[in-house]
Amino acid sequence: MLHFPVLLEEAVGFLVCNSNGSYADCTFGRGGHSKLILERISETAELTALDKDPEAFAYGKQFFNDKRFKILHKSFNEIDDIFKTQSLDGILFDLGTCSTHFDDKSRGFSFKEDGPLDMRFDPNKGEPVSEWINAASEKDIIDVLFKYGQEKNARSIAKAICLSRKKNKITRTSSLTEIILSASSRKISKIHPATKSFQALRIFINNELDELKAALEKAKKIIKVDGIIVVISFHSLEDSIVKKSFKTKVKAFPREIPINPVITKEFNCIAKKIRPTANEISSNKRSRSAIMRVFKKINAA
Ligand SMILES: C[S@@+](CC[C@H](N)C(=O)[O-])C[C@H]1O[C@@H](n2cnc3c(N)ncnc32)[C@H](O)[C@@H]1O
Repeated sequence: MLHFPVLLEEAVGFLVCNSNGSYADCTFGRGGHSKLILERISETAELTALDKDPEAFAYGKQFFNDKRFKILHKSFNEIDDIFKTQSLDGILFDLGTCSTHFDDKSRGFSFKEDGPLDMRFDPNKGEPVSEWINAASEKDIIDVLFKYGQEKNARSIAKAICLSRKKNKITRTSSLTEIILSASSRKISKIHPATKSFQALRIFINNELDELKAALEKAKKIIKVDGIIVVISFHSLEDSIVKKSFKTKVKAFPREIPINPVITKEFNCIAKKIRPTANEISSNKRSRSAIMRVFKKINAA
């Protein structure tokens, strides 16, 4: 198995609300969720999968030969263009990285293996972490480590990065890991000292949170009334974006206008904070931080 799909039965169980419907898997990965969606939908239904990563796209092209299935090498941020004229019965987001990203050291996602310091989901777009980290100001590095990794040692790590790059450019994951280790407190912790910094740099370089915010707004328009949006996130930054995005917004009126705003609720949260079972966590450690939320559109905006 290349990647163990997380909360597979739970996610697809909620998502497929109409077996003849049209679905989008916005984060194809290695197609674990797509495969089960195809098993659960009828011959006339359809599934469009997206992935930013060219290797995920190539995998889908090669191994998913099904006339109901189509895969596009695109970011989920582009779903408004992709589904300009079509509305959907279900949209799935299974956020973050695949195990394949960490297993392939040439992608530079892992602090456990030496590789080029890259971390882009799409290595043909944007800049690798190495380019950014060798040019960014100390303050910007602190901000990124703190904002996206909640790294308490952000200051000392950023300082060590700036000192080290004066001698040699930082181009390898192993060099960055060594720098982080040298700057981290010696307190014993459950997680490796580089975990939070690597997470922060990955989120930043892929613009993950802004893309998620924008994509959810677009998904809310594309989904049909009675349609379902399922989001599986892996850390609190993502989960709080998901929660906020589906909160009913109350329009603010100036105090002097005596109006009771009529609020039409657009979405119902039909499953809140679903977590993997102990069984799933024991067979797939990566699933332990997953949180799933499910929303049903109950009214058009
Ligand atoms: C957790 S994996 C999905 C795993 C998949 N559900 C499976 O069962 O194999 C997340 C995938 O989302 C992709 N991804 C991340 N950000 C993306 C974006 N903005 N647009 C499209 N795909 C994205 C990553 O490349 C990765 O393949």
